[in-house]
Amino acid sequence: MDNRPIGFFDSGLGGLTCIPHLMQALPNERIIYFGDTARTPYGSKGISTIRHFSMQIADFLINENVKMIVIACNTVSSTCLDELHQRYPQIPIVGIIEPTAEITAKTCNELDHIGIIGTKVTIKSKAYEKLIYNKNPKLKIYTTPCPVLVPLIEEGIIQNEIMDLSIKYYLDHFISYNNINTLILGCTHYPLIRKNIEKIYPGLRIINPSEEIIESIIAKLAAKDLFSEKPVFDNTFYASDLSENFVNMINKIFENSGFKVAFKSFDLETYK
Ligand code: DGL
Repeated sequence: MDNRPIGFFDSGLGGLTCIPHLMQALPNERIIYFGDTARTPYGSKGISTIRHFSMQIADFLINENVKMIVIACNTVSSTCLDELHQRYPQIPIVGIIEPTAEITAKTCNELDHIGIIGTKVTIKSKAYEKLIYNKNPKLKIYTTPCPVLVPLIEEGIIQNEIMDLSIKYYLDHFISYNNINTLILGCTHYPLIRKNIEKIYPGLRIINPSEEIIESIIAKLAAKDLFSEKPVFDNTFYASDLSENFVNMINKIFENSGFKVAFKSFDLETYK
């Protein structure tokens, strides 16, 4: 048993899409979340920059005495997972790509046409393909980056014609040309536009990594006997720039939940 919090992080508010699934599956767990809203998006930046940012956040979370780190970001998971494991061998670290690859390989067959969308960095890393092909080399996988979607989501431009047009710009040809029937939302921001995608492309099967990661979190907590023994109701959400969208989204997630939420701003550049 371990009552310390679980640390989550993302480049911004995308990783928040994991939180409702975690609260539902593990209501006793306390969360410390870091969203690097001042430096988002990560997905079009260089790998060394992403690594530097990720190490700063992980150092910060370790300093906050978390019992586990969840990388609620595909871009970081696709580029920094090994370095994070090496830097903190003592702490369980859960990436978001492996659990999604596993469920994809388990639930898809050779007749499926699997589309993966994500940031430029995630798509270029081929992290999804490598892991999925390891499990089933016969699956058909197609990928495409959608770089403008994250900045729009961070701006709160979601139920909006601009968002629908952007989705169509990236996906119309991709989906029809490749006959995609299954789509992996390979960026934790994308579940926030899941309804837009489902409306534009009805019938598409959606795989949501923000949900699929929860089983891995449970398995790691169980393996190390790290579950909290009693409900702890206070959760802390840090951002490098506390934007209105970030605060509103968290308030919406926790509305009527009975959980307490604290917001804090933290400048990682001052953190050495
Ligand atoms: N939400 C993140 C991901 O899953 C990062 C998006 C970004 O900062 O570009 O990739």
